[in-house]
Amino acid sequence: MDNQAFELHGESFPPGKEGPKKEAKKSNRSLMKIFLACLLACGITTVLGVLTLALVSNDASKRDPDGGNVGMSPSPSHGRRLDVKFQFLNHLKKSKVYTYPGGQIQWARFRKELLDYGSEEEVEFGRSLNIHRSQMTFGTLRIKSKGLRAPHWHFNANEHGYLQQGSAWVGVMGADDNVVTTYNVTAGQVVFFPRNTIHWLKNVGEEDCVFLLFFSTHEELQTLDMDDVFFWTPEDVAARALKPPGGVNFIRTFQKQAEDQAINLPPNLEDLVQNATYGQSPDHLVWRYFYNLKGSAEDPFPGGSFQWARYRRDATSLNGNEKIFSESLHKHENTLTLATLRIRSNSLGQPHFHFNAHEMGYVLSGCGQVGVVLSGTSINFNIDIGDVIFFPVGSQHYIKSVCEEELLLLLAYSTGNQLETLRMSSYFQGTADHILAQLFFKAQAEIKMFSRTSQP
Ligand SMILES: *[C@@H]1O[C@H](CO)[C@@H](O)[C@H](O)[C@H]1NC(C)=O
Ligand SMILES: *[C@@H]1O[C@H](CO)[C@@H](O)[C@H](O)[C@H]1NC(C)=O
Repeated sequence: MDNQAFELHGESFPPGKEGPKKEAKKSNRSLMKIFLACLLACGITTVLGVLTLALVSNDASKRDPDGGNVGMSPSPSHGRRLDVKFQFLNHLKKSKVYTYPGGQIQWARFRKELLDYGSEEEVEFGRSLNIHRSQMTFGTLRIKSKGLRAPHWHFNANEHGYLQQGSAWVGVMGADDNVVTTYNVTAGQVVFFPRNTIHWLKNVGEEDCVFLLFFSTHEELQTLDMDDVFFWTPEDVAARALKPPGGVNFIRTFQKQAEDQAINLPPNLEDLVQNATYGQSPDHLVWRYFYNLKGSAEDPFPGGSFQWARYRRDATSLNGNEKIFSESLHKHENTLTLATLRIRSNSLGQPHFHFNAHEMGYVLSGCGQVGVVLSGTSINFNIDIGDVIFFPVGSQHYIKSVCEEELLLLLAYSTGNQLETLRMSSYFQGTADHILAQLFFKAQAEIKMFSRTSQP
């Protein structure tokens, strides 16, 4: 009874608010009891409120040990005091881990439901992807040996992936339902699953395989898994479509597992499967969905080099398989451009911006410092292995390698066309020296000191 009152009234007082004063009539014992309970509740909520505030502000001041912020501007849309950098940085390793029998998934993405985020920092990053209409969602997919990412398709996004480690037998099926393309993907290669193509990924190696996945949407990613669809189809309809001997009775022998089988690994797999074969389709099919990024030509610049998985209008530098991939990307709408970027120890990927693409990146190895300048915001921060970064279209950004080892990033750009870029050195060079002299209060002769040699 007292407990009930406690709970009932405890919730009705907002934290931090004073409880009722001691004017209660002493004659009524039960009222008095309720009152005392309320007082206790208010006391506790007040203490909790104060504690929470103290913890939050303490947390905020400690949050950024890596520092390096030159400028911070509060986000105009909301009053939370979270570092602006989380609009451009996601510590993916710290994000919520979705665990399945055969592996794990982690996300750096926009969520419609606040509860689907794991932290305020994730909210900030997800909102930023969405507000900038980035056409980007990122996730990591870890599959245990013999595990299977169930056959599925995405309603609202193309998927571009990079196999960081391991090997997987991948199948893709497009609209022409007689053609299935299968291929053994190895580390350093790229996969491309156009919107609504069914695809599966089976780990055929001994170690875990890890896919880094970009999806071309900044909305909630919409996906259907084959097993879920099967169990949502009426039994008689499934029986008439699949025509097994025994009809609907056979369909009824299928049992939906208690656990989500998005990444599946039955404990009795050995009993279920004896004769697995992992064949590969002919080249003209395979290279529409796969690309050997690791084996592709390097595109060097003074501090490092790029390798690209993208559409090229001028395909003369591409080999036969690369041409098939380039044309396949071009046939689909809203595809992404993928690249690996190496920056040597202490070298700089100089400030630049893109006219036609948002950019997202994942740190594969090394460490660095990046800077982003937007209209109204300027921020510099450090990046480490497993971090995800986001540069909105038009924002000027640089990436500096600051460790002994080289900095290696996987990058995605939200364009299926040629990437259009302008570098800081180019627009300084292109602006008349008397215009710069006037702008910066500097003698024209001094302005001429800026390097006139163009470098990427
Ligand atoms: C597996 O292959 C063996 C030999 O080819 C065959 O005898 C057996 O029936 C096959 N088992 C299944 C389940 O297909
Ligand atoms: C694909 O990989 C599996 C596992 O290593 C292997 O058994 C199979 O022969 C491979 N398939 C092809 C066509 O190379």
